[in-house]
Amino acid sequence: MSGTRKGAAYSSERYAGILNAPHRAFLWSIGLDPSDIGKPLAGVVVAWSESGPCNFHTLNLVGYVKQGLRDAGCVGLAMPTIVVNDNISMGTAGMRYSLVSREVIADSVEAQIVAHAYDGFVAIGGCDKTQPGLMMAMARINRPSIYMYGGSAEPGFIGEKKFTIEDVHEYVGAYLKGKASEQELLQVEMVAHPTYGACAGLFTANTMALLSEALGLALLGSSSPTATSSRRAIFSYETGKALGPLLENDIKPRDILKYEAFRNAATVLMASGGSTNGILHLLALAHEAGVKFTLDDLDEISRKTPYILNMRPAGEYVMLDLDRVGGAPLLLRLLLEAGLIDGDVLTVSGKSLAQSLKEYRLPDVPHDHIVRHPSNPIKKTGGIRILRGSLAPDGAVVKTAATGVTRFEGSARVFDDEEPAFEAVRRGDVDEGNVLVIRYVGPKGAPGMPEMLRVTAALSGAGLGETVAMVTDGRFSGATRGIMVGHVAPEAVAGGPIALVEDGDRVLIDTEAGRLDLLVAESELERRRSALKPKPPKAASGLLAKYASLVSSASMGAVTLPRT
Ligand code: FES
Repeated sequence: MSGTRKGAAYSSERYAGILNAPHRAFLWSIGLDPSDIGKPLAGVVVAWSESGPCNFHTLNLVGYVKQGLRDAGCVGLAMPTIVVNDNISMGTAGMRYSLVSREVIADSVEAQIVAHAYDGFVAIGGCDKTQPGLMMAMARINRPSIYMYGGSAEPGFIGEKKFTIEDVHEYVGAYLKGKASEQELLQVEMVAHPTYGACAGLFTANTMALLSEALGLALLGSSSPTATSSRRAIFSYETGKALGPLLENDIKPRDILKYEAFRNAATVLMASGGSTNGILHLLALAHEAGVKFTLDDLDEISRKTPYILNMRPAGEYVMLDLDRVGGAPLLLRLLLEAGLIDGDVLTVSGKSLAQSLKEYRLPDVPHDHIVRHPSNPIKKTGGIRILRGSLAPDGAVVKTAATGVTRFEGSARVFDDEEPAFEAVRRGDVDEGNVLVIRYVGPKGAPGMPEMLRVTAALSGAGLGETVAMVTDGRFSGATRGIMVGHVAPEAVAGGPIALVEDGDRVLIDTEAGRLDLLVAESELERRRSALKPKPPKAASGLLAKYASLVSSASMGAVTLPRT
């Protein structure tokens, strides 16, 4: 057996030396040989599932990662983690497991990496929650590790017209309103997501992939090639190979995930008009990294960051288009040159972000149609705003990129779950000027804070996206468009003011002023508060009940905390 190499401390303690013979015996059974002992042992954690296209192919990338690890003098062993496919769960009771799966993923990686004494790992994600779950595990375990996205799908086409999965949801809304025929809906359904890979627009998966580069946790350029691109194999190999120096030099995720890295990621989130889920996941990741990064930071960054990325759902283009003009590195370089991000932060390349960007070769092609210069933005401020006010004392988020409306005052229509709200839209029982208040769907209340895409897409499809608003303690899909306020905190089940809203109350949303207010006299709210009866829990046993008992507020990223 060889001597212990740098970066192999955990595995050597477990597998080297005469007394570890029983542990080693199991390594011989799976094809390792004595020369492997003493080399760094790396996990290749792959979120893989045939439940849908998002992570359908990720297992195929493992071999390339392992080859890269081998060439870096490491031994790689693969392990799975779970996937809850958001699009397939959307609008059903299954969606309650989506955010929950983020915690299950982080916990499952911790259990496997620590239990088997891996020195570090490569994490491969795809669908929405797999990405923050894996990055949270990296921060929590804090052993040298790199993240890699499995890539998004190609868009679909009917003639020259481009389609993504978001269109299918909106065509359902249009069909229900009699604005699209069954034939048209079925035609869109068949073409919208034509390959494996995650959703093609800048929904949550692609948002988190861009953030993985902005945080410094992934190799530059690795987020934008599609799942079908041959560059996926190359990035897989390079990612495996890049773990070697991180192990050798003991560069750990928390050396990278400093406060400034979170500011950079938040700037990219705001500049890109990415998914509001990015807010929740950045807060959760900061918690795991032990960094104090709050909604106030996000609010401040949002106010001064120009929105410059023209991607769906708010804009026109998809990840494949962004890839052609330079992907995340282009966005990062423009933001760095404009003085909006900090180039001194460390990345998994072992170099600063500024240095890595300097060495990265961008294609010399026009990009203004997709990525505008910060001096000529689509909007002067960020694509997501943080709101506070009497309806959300602890905060709420709105995707300003997804709507042209900045101020909306309307009359509340209150629903205690998503389904009755969807039914009301479906029946046409929603009027212009209404604010749909969907509550008891927060992290604890639902439990699991499901996304309301069915309702928001039905509103958009019915042509009500700019005349009916929605306010919820649940979440939105990254594909959502319209005047949609989510993550209202405290949530209804925790006694937040959203529990006090009644039909007909006036609700004010002012994204410029950053306000979300319930225009009802305090004395009346006090009366309602004293009459408020707690709702029985929606989940009495199993994973959701456990989660409900441990989960924190959306304003803290809905992380689970040990009960004290
Ligand atoms: Fe998986 Fe969109 S549903 S990435």
